[in-house]
Amino acid sequence: MLLPRPHLLRPFLALAAGAFALTSPRLAAQAVRTGTVAERFQLLCANCHGKNLEGAMAPSMLDDVWTNGGDDESLAKSIRTGFPDKGMPAWGAAIPDKEIRAMVIYIRELRAKAAREKTQFVKPADSMTAQSELHAYQLNTWVGGLKEPWSLAFLSPTQAVVTEKRGYLYLIENGKLADRPLSGVPAVDTGGQAGLFDVVPHPDYAKNGWLYLAFSDPQQNADGAKVSLTRIIRGKIKDGALIDQQTIYQGKLEHYIKAGGVHFGGRIAFDRQGYLFFTIGERGQGPHAQDIARPNGKVHRLHDDGRIPTDNPFVGDAKTDTTIWSYGHRNPQGLAFHPITGELFDAEHGPRGGDELNLVKKGLNYGWPVITYGMNYDGTAMVDITAKAGMEQPLTYWVPSIAPCGANFYTGDLFPKWKNQLFVASLAAEELRRVEIVGGKVVAQEIIFKSIGRIRHVIGGPDGALYVLLPNRIARITPAP
Ligand code: HEC
Repeated sequence: MLLPRPHLLRPFLALAAGAFALTSPRLAAQAVRTGTVAERFQLLCANCHGKNLEGAMAPSMLDDVWTNGGDDESLAKSIRTGFPDKGMPAWGAAIPDKEIRAMVIYIRELRAKAAREKTQFVKPADSMTAQSELHAYQLNTWVGGLKEPWSLAFLSPTQAVVTEKRGYLYLIENGKLADRPLSGVPAVDTGGQAGLFDVVPHPDYAKNGWLYLAFSDPQQNADGAKVSLTRIIRGKIKDGALIDQQTIYQGKLEHYIKAGGVHFGGRIAFDRQGYLFFTIGERGQGPHAQDIARPNGKVHRLHDDGRIPTDNPFVGDAKTDTTIWSYGHRNPQGLAFHPITGELFDAEHGPRGGDELNLVKKGLNYGWPVITYGMNYDGTAMVDITAKAGMEQPLTYWVPSIAPCGANFYTGDLFPKWKNQLFVASLAAEELRRVEIVGGKVVAQEIIFKSIGRIRHVIGGPDGALYVLLPNRIARITPAP
């Protein structure tokens, strides 16, 4: 035999044809030590697969034709073991598993980006009719002149309240914003992602007038340092002021984390029995989400007056935080009960590629930061496992990340085909999403519109319209005339 067999020759041909392709696992080993997943992909893979996965000497990864399986595990295996006889080196020895996991997420992002570029999204403007899959609609500005509105609540057919992140609570009467915010609202920490968060009326508001607020409470710790953590209060509106205030929840000072920063959660929801649920993000302290002695990275449950229900999952254990309902959450900012089944759903900000929708159940662990579908925002790897015994799987996760914020089920009559479907507001992707959940599974999703601004919340009004909170206004979605 004079010539090497073709399958031995092919990698060298590929290298020659690829000119700069780093097909050598030794060079790969150097490349993984530095740089982001994007840089690594461009260096190690793009020459054969194309800069945007469009294909070159290797097949495109944009079509849905996968010769070796298209699920995450198959992609990871293709990368790990390669196809030496077809010209693709095995990367497993050079690239650690969690970097391979990051590569899979990156491939998913590039695929979604390519699909998105081919899709036209509606950018609704006032008085313009827009079409969605199930309903034609109009989006019109309802209340303008706001700055970063965070939450909206309807108190009666003519009265609503809106919070602004910077600490203001305003009354809206017959669609008109009050000239000045309500007085008496406590001072809030507004550094970073901190601020005034949710406002929710008691389920019996018409009778008792209680209004609940969540905010980051500025305090001082024993060393005199400025610290903050989510606090929940309730009060009543009278003559332009919030009066009769009571603290419903306040974390312990030893658990307070320095003021400002990230991941506060801050959403409140009542269930049918009148229990109050609320979220606290992990405050950028991933491991705290797994520590049931701490309040951050959790969904909590209380009676409406702040008492701790005796059937909460960790009651009776002196070393735990007994208000906890579920744990292992990163930054849950959407919290909603299904109008028919009464099940609790949370939408939470994950790391890059790891935003989640969860079905939240008593005492369960949702896995952050031990398992996640995401990677670090700078494109470096995080973990290589997405599942583990004793940890719950999300119902769905979003790649690329959309930064889900408020979420609510639509229960009105104006859009019959949207009834009981979940709507999710997204910050980074500036999308309003419709999520159809059947039998505890996500069966369909639609982007209703995109790119008219970051959306912090979505909620149905007593008039059956859907209201969305944009960066400086509230828009109202009604059927097309
Ligand atoms: C020297 C060229 C070359 C390089 C470099 C290369 N590949 Fe490949 N790759 C191929 C070829 C050829 C195939 C097709 C194998 C087949 O037909 O089954 C392939 C297949 C794949 C598949 C499976 C596709 C399918 O349809 O099942 C994945 C995933 C993949 N490559 C990812 C990567 C990643 C990630 C990198 C960089 C770390 C990379 N490849 C680098 C040539 C290359």
